[in-house]
Amino acid sequence: MSITLNSPLDMHLHLRDEEMLSVVGPLSSESFSGAIIMPNLVPPITTKEALISYKERILKACKGNTFTPYMTLFFKPTYSKEFLASIKDELTAIKLYPAGITTNSQGGVSGFDVDELRPTLDAMSELEIPLCIHGETNGFVMDREAEFVSIYEMLATNFPKLKIIMEHITTKESVEALDKFDNLYATITLHHLLITLDDVAGGMLQPHLFCKPIAKRPEDREALRKVALEGHPKVMFGSDSAPHPQHAKESCGCAAGVFTAPIALQVLTELFMEHSSIDKLQSFISSNARNIYSNIEIPTKTVILEEKNFEVPGKYADVVPMFSGETLKYSIIKIT
Ligand code: NCD
Ligand code: ZN
Repeated sequence: MSITLNSPLDMHLHLRDEEMLSVVGPLSSESFSGAIIMPNLVPPITTKEALISYKERILKACKGNTFTPYMTLFFKPTYSKEFLASIKDELTAIKLYPAGITTNSQGGVSGFDVDELRPTLDAMSELEIPLCIHGETNGFVMDREAEFVSIYEMLATNFPKLKIIMEHITTKESVEALDKFDNLYATITLHHLLITLDDVAGGMLQPHLFCKPIAKRPEDREALRKVALEGHPKVMFGSDSAPHPQHAKESCGCAAGVFTAPIALQVLTELFMEHSSIDKLQSFISSNARNIYSNIEIPTKTVILEEKNFEVPGKYADVVPMFSGETLKYSIIKIT
């Protein structure tokens, strides 16, 4: 039996820059039609010039693959309506990071004072620019996302016309928040559908599974699986594929991020097949995102997978992927 996916989308992707971009750009752009590109470079993307030139570098790295990078700006509370209007055609969303919460987020928001955020968020509402949020407080690591739900609720209530995407959700509390507010949506990663904290730190420490937000409890994974596997219309696939060089992962002070781009479609297919939900994968991987992000144009691409072993390379250049050296059950056999 073969499985056909139409125009797969990755609604949360780190492509980095320079050499790393040249390694990971082709891997995503080969099998995905488009991706929301995270702006946490050093320095982050905060100007029109930086955004346009990053987009050009991405397209160059993608070597002619049919692929649209959906560009984002790094949220600043000082963006004016004029500025946002001038960049709107180049911009798909704005990504908000709490200051210092993850890789390259030092310039993010400290404190969530609604009056301070209002001018930019009002402008985004009016211009219909979605807001993507890394939702973690600086509390105890296992509680950070659940504690942030009250901030999601405060923003959803104060800015009812703003589409708010809760990025890479990992908890049942975030799943519950989805259905309480019309304007809350979510991305879910592959790794958070598969692993819990036990897989990261229950035995020998697994640095390649260490990411932000950290994987949580079995009941949280269940809640994520439920909404992904039922094709819940407010959730979309966002890999949060976040490559770091091997030495930065296998070291004291391990960088956060799991690299899943080259194995995501194969493993999602296996997961959805295993749970007799393959008819819902198209919603999770593309159609829901198309409905939620009404401002994107999606190139046509057809990806066909079959039950055929795929040996995951140990490394892609200097980056170790999830399932490195293991054999997956499904392979991509054709992309047109
Ligand atoms: C991401 C990265 O490395 O840029 N890391 C991660 O653990 N997910 C940043 C992020 O999305 O938090
Ligand atoms: Zn991310």
